[in-house]
Amino acid sequence: MALRYDFLNMMRNRVGAEGVSPEELQAVAGWLEASRRALADRKKAGELGFFDVPKRRPSREAMASVLRALDPEIDTLVVVGIGGSLLGTQAVYEALRGVDTLKRGARAMKLVFAGDATDPRAARDIFEQVDWNRAAINIVSKSGDTIEPMAIFTLLRHELVRAVGLEKASKRIIATTDAKKGTLHEIAAREKYATLPVPNNVGGRFSVFTEVGAFPLLAAGIDIDALWKGAAAEEADFWKMAPLKSAPMVYAALQWLLYRRGKTISVFMPYAKRLTLVGQWYRQLWAESLGKKTDRKRKRVDVGPTPVAAVGPADQHSQIQLYNEGPSDKIVTFVEVDDFDIDARLPEPWSDIEGVSYFSGHTLRKLVHAERQATAEALTDSRRPNGTLHMPDLTGRSLGALLQCLMMATAMAGELFDVDAFDQPGVEAGKKHMYRLLGRKGF
Ligand code: PA5
Repeated sequence: MALRYDFLNMMRNRVGAEGVSPEELQAVAGWLEASRRALADRKKAGELGFFDVPKRRPSREAMASVLRALDPEIDTLVVVGIGGSLLGTQAVYEALRGVDTLKRGARAMKLVFAGDATDPRAARDIFEQVDWNRAAINIVSKSGDTIEPMAIFTLLRHELVRAVGLEKASKRIIATTDAKKGTLHEIAAREKYATLPVPNNVGGRFSVFTEVGAFPLLAAGIDIDALWKGAAAEEADFWKMAPLKSAPMVYAALQWLLYRRGKTISVFMPYAKRLTLVGQWYRQLWAESLGKKTDRKRKRVDVGPTPVAAVGPADQHSQIQLYNEGPSDKIVTFVEVDDFDIDARLPEPWSDIEGVSYFSGHTLRKLVHAERQATAEALTDSRRPNGTLHMPDLTGRSLGALLQCLMMATAMAGELFDVDAFDQPGVEAGKKHMYRLLGRKGF
């Protein structure tokens, strides 16, 4: 069963003037159709590789042979990257680790993540977690030039060389980077690392299903075929469904319509702890893709919704006060997992005490669903638009569908906001300042 988007609480009949009317939604259907055609043309021209990745699939054999070549005693893969080169892998690993693993013959390495923090304590924490005699490094940088992962990589490589010697270390480092150019490409060639390509028509934040995410996830024993399958099915639906029946299209349309009415904050709030990092991944995707100074005609617009990552039920006791009663500038998107593969029934130790007995006998699944529903109802009562993305379960297939849905929604929102969703000049600007501050030639 595919991903389902319940947007009833975004509509006027539920939240009054704060919501969208069926007529308004109907009025953008033609625009959605035209936007989809524009995306299809760009995809055909080879510009938007992320659409095809799950269907095309990175070479599983190439990745498996890199894995096979690693010494059998290696049980930890230190994945070094930042932003789009790390967050997707972290999000999927966190969600599926131990849940959606390959049944037989899989090597299930522990993944340790680095490269997104440069403070000395964070570096020390990595050192303390890793036995360098049993570790390999996967350095991931599309440009091969990003200071944080590259700097941390030099430090980690140093430790690895110290533990096992230069020759062995070089056989334990895998570089995922541009196939033809860049600093990391050059280093990998010099030190004879195994390399995996980042397709040049897939941007960092859209690259989770490429070798960027697929290789470390495969190393961790995650069923990447299931991820690709779910994502490919979602992609196939995107092209054939009526715009107002398509989750990514309606999601983008509602976010855009309400942004123009002052709902400039987009809260993403899964009710599954293991999806917490999906929120972090979405935050980058939405922010970097849609936060732009100019539109596609280079007119100054200073546009972009602000994504906020929350998680339920924890943030009911932290954020919901603000969402319910603070400025009415937010759209809240919940993610609900309809069916967990496991459950637990709450015992009934004190049947005579009403304060606990009312929930005794219920399952945790019922509890978490009730919490999501109660929060949605409370927001709706306060006339705060909210919607829910329903995942049938917490499997690779459903997660693949969710991530692909959100990437396609982002591409569609780029069309509606009329910005280039695939560049990030604001990030590049910061990188240049950093190069200058640290004395890189030419900056
Ligand atoms: O989405 C993006 O393009 C960025 O977040 C990049 O992934 C991030 O800056 C890291 O870049 P790179 O992979 O070139 O090191």
